[in-house]
Amino acid sequence: MKKTSLWKDDTEASFYPPLQKDLNVDIAIVGGGITGTAAAHLLTLQGKNVALLEAWEIGGGTTGFSTGNLYATVEERLNKLQCKFDETTARAVVSSRSAAIGHIENTVREYAIDCDFHRRPWRLLSETETFDRFLQQEYKACLKTGLDAYLDDSAPLTFPIRKALRIENQAQFNPMRYVKALAAQAQKAGGRVFEHTPVLHIKEGSPNILYTENGTVTANKVIHATHSPKGVRFVHTLMGVYREYAIAVKLNSDEYPEGIFWVMGKPHQHSIRSYTRRTGENYLLVLGEPHKVGHKKDNEACFRNLETYIRARFDVKSIEYHWSAQNYRSADGLPYIGSVNDKAGIYIATGFATDGLTYGTLAAMIISDLILGKENPWSRLYDPRRHNPLKSAGRFVKENAHVFMDYLTDWPYRAEAKSVAGIAPGEGKTVVLKGEKFAVYRDEAGELHQVSAVCTHMKCIVNWNKEQKSWDCPCHGSRFTVDGQVIEGPAILDLPKKAANHPR
Ligand code: FES
Repeated sequence: MKKTSLWKDDTEASFYPPLQKDLNVDIAIVGGGITGTAAAHLLTLQGKNVALLEAWEIGGGTTGFSTGNLYATVEERLNKLQCKFDETTARAVVSSRSAAIGHIENTVREYAIDCDFHRRPWRLLSETETFDRFLQQEYKACLKTGLDAYLDDSAPLTFPIRKALRIENQAQFNPMRYVKALAAQAQKAGGRVFEHTPVLHIKEGSPNILYTENGTVTANKVIHATHSPKGVRFVHTLMGVYREYAIAVKLNSDEYPEGIFWVMGKPHQHSIRSYTRRTGENYLLVLGEPHKVGHKKDNEACFRNLETYIRARFDVKSIEYHWSAQNYRSADGLPYIGSVNDKAGIYIATGFATDGLTYGTLAAMIISDLILGKENPWSRLYDPRRHNPLKSAGRFVKENAHVFMDYLTDWPYRAEAKSVAGIAPGEGKTVVLKGEKFAVYRDEAGELHQVSAVCTHMKCIVNWNKEQKSWDCPCHGSRFTVDGQVIEGPAILDLPKKAANHPR
């Protein structure tokens, strides 16, 4: 079984150089996922001088570990959006997301991108009568937004279902191949693409200065396309951060279903789809088992649960891939897209929940229009400075209560171990020594990797992620390698390395 995503394994690597000298551009884009590459593509086409800075490889963050599903509806559910806001808002969400899918389709066609893009139906399924009323309500909500929706008694699956809400004409693709092609097109149009170039500090002003290891980028405008914006921002207090898991399996039969299937269940739904890689081999993917980042000790159990789930419904031959990814849920159910500082020209795109491939594309369209001074019909709807206290209150209180609890449980110098002696090879634990909290990992060779356990974002204490072998912050989702390097999240600075000052 490979510990990577099927998308990554079925896509050629890209080789852009790291930034090696100072640069002056119109627009610096931080993050080379779908938001960053789509924005770079749109802005370079309009003659803008763009630098795209990716900390790892293009698509190597969340985009390369997503579902590859594109749909106009949302995880939050349209009925809920209609109740929370109104029908006009739900319609605008659907039309904006449909436009983003249309944009992807046109781009794939224009450049003949080999990313397995297909229009497919999306289905929300119930296996029991518990969800009957819910499906009816959601069906009506879909019709009100103008979606081509149907309520069926069956679905093209080998296991029994009770009801299925179907929306025609949604889409699927390999997101990794798509973003690699976008980056290549942006470069062809004059953009500068840099991989392995983490941004270490951003000095906002006119102009902005972005500091990296080997040079600075001076830019009139900055787009934070990092899934969660870098630095300390108010939106971080509005979002909950979750981790979800995926496995890709081979079946004993050729009965791989076509389309997007969300199977409702308690406590969580599962997402199922198929994929045929270039070699012609078929795979079935199942995704789910969400939990708050840094809040699950045995997160490897999520893969075991997925395997049990899929074996109960399909004749599984082998488990081939497994991976996981993070998502950020906004307080009011809509993402935050647009300017947060007009004077300095700072733009953010975050809060996509699990709907990020479509919202990321939409974010690129909206932010590009804002920068180019063009009217965009949806920029006000997703404005990150909107004020929706009533619509946000529930999740705001819930997420911040979590953060407050994390502070409380962390700071009275409590840790998982009193010394490193009990940390087994392959294991990580927080340890308090002389009043200081350390995050200590013992590698398979017995060597200790010791860093500060205090998150460099807003000083929560990081927790061990057993499955990823990383240190994850439960407050706003920053993640770090065992040697403290930032992997993702709002933190900019690495966890400082600490000398081993204790018996090993
Ligand atoms: Fe905010 Fe760690 S991510 S405190």
